[in-house]
Amino acid sequence: MTKDPLLAWRREFPILAKKTYLISNSLGAMPRGVYDRLKEFADTWATEGVLAWDGWIPRVAETGDLVGRIVNAPKGTVMMHQNVSTLQTLVASCFDFRKGRRKVVCLEQDFPTIHYAWTAQEGRGAKVVLVPSRDGIHVDTDRLLAAIDRKTAVVAVSLVLFRSATILDAQAVIRRAHAVGAKVVLDAYQATGVIPVDVKALGVDFLVGGSVKWLCGGPGACYLHVREDLIRKIRPAMTGWFSHARPFAFEPGAVRYAPDIYRTMGGSPSVPALYSARSGYEIIRKVGVGRIRAKSLRQTRLLIRLADAQGLKINTPREDALRAGTVSVDFPGAEKACEALIRRGFIVDHRPRAGIRISPHFYNSDAECEAVMEEIRKIRRRS
Ligand SMILES: Cc1ncc(COP(=O)(O)O)c(C=O)c1O
Repeated sequence: MTKDPLLAWRREFPILAKKTYLISNSLGAMPRGVYDRLKEFADTWATEGVLAWDGWIPRVAETGDLVGRIVNAPKGTVMMHQNVSTLQTLVASCFDFRKGRRKVVCLEQDFPTIHYAWTAQEGRGAKVVLVPSRDGIHVDTDRLLAAIDRKTAVVAVSLVLFRSATILDAQAVIRRAHAVGAKVVLDAYQATGVIPVDVKALGVDFLVGGSVKWLCGGPGACYLHVREDLIRKIRPAMTGWFSHARPFAFEPGAVRYAPDIYRTMGGSPSVPALYSARSGYEIIRKVGVGRIRAKSLRQTRLLIRLADAQGLKINTPREDALRAGTVSVDFPGAEKACEALIRRGFIVDHRPRAGIRISPHFYNSDAECEAVMEEIRKIRRRS
């Protein structure tokens, strides 16, 4: 057996010594460096007090730029916020559905926060269309493209679907949307850190995502990329004093937007999260998404082969090009089996209409993939 050089990273992730941790689609393992980063935050607060803001405010865009390097976003085009639900709503607030186009196209099988954020805009004149999937696993690209027409204001979709790990043909969606004058908001939460994402090559209007999953950055550090030429054109109705051109002038009345990405900032940032997220970004950069993707494909192929050998239903695309980092397997009693797995130290999760989601990352060994499938076999034999 050839040695896997990425396993050297295991020592940076304390939980791997105790658990078979295969849940990076939900919460990536914490890098050891986070202890020091959070202490650094506390020390800064303790010793500099209010003067610490002088470093904390620029840190927002600096952290954005760190994520930007992973998704090939130009410097100064990424803003950090607390969560993706807020970011979807913030982007939605840039559109005036009463004056212009009303239609918002989403995928039925997508993460509910996307549906909730955009259907909530129906009170502001939007009309959401949910495009169904024939098998609940794949995206019906033809149907999706057909739904994008000249009435469409926005297409709000995930780059990788949360249940099936299906990769969307984002290029085709963006091409179609732009051809009819619509904008695209791509949720890359299940993509960034495990498959290559290149906002420049895509030419996407808005990209959102967060750090808890494949980026191993922990909660509270979500990113919004706005295409460079769009930044000065957007006027988010969801706003606050840091979106102002001169926040510390405390000008009364309507917001006068900052000329740069800070116009999407709104209020005070979640500073500790900016500290804790950094170690994960640095490690992902050092390991390299190309190497992560190659290993992930090998391990998801292995999981599919082992699941097939047990006759499990696989709710994930079998085609490499369509599958991101997770293999979802289903069988009668899967939810209970998932609980049993967790009790036995195999950390995975269960989602309705997906089954058990198994998500190896660069720090997992092939032996761990084999072990979880063997444990599933034992649990099924006993029940
Ligand atoms: C595609 C996608 N978007 C968003 C989220 C989470 O959104 P938030 O940051 O608002 O919790 C998830 C989490 O599971 C997700 O899978």
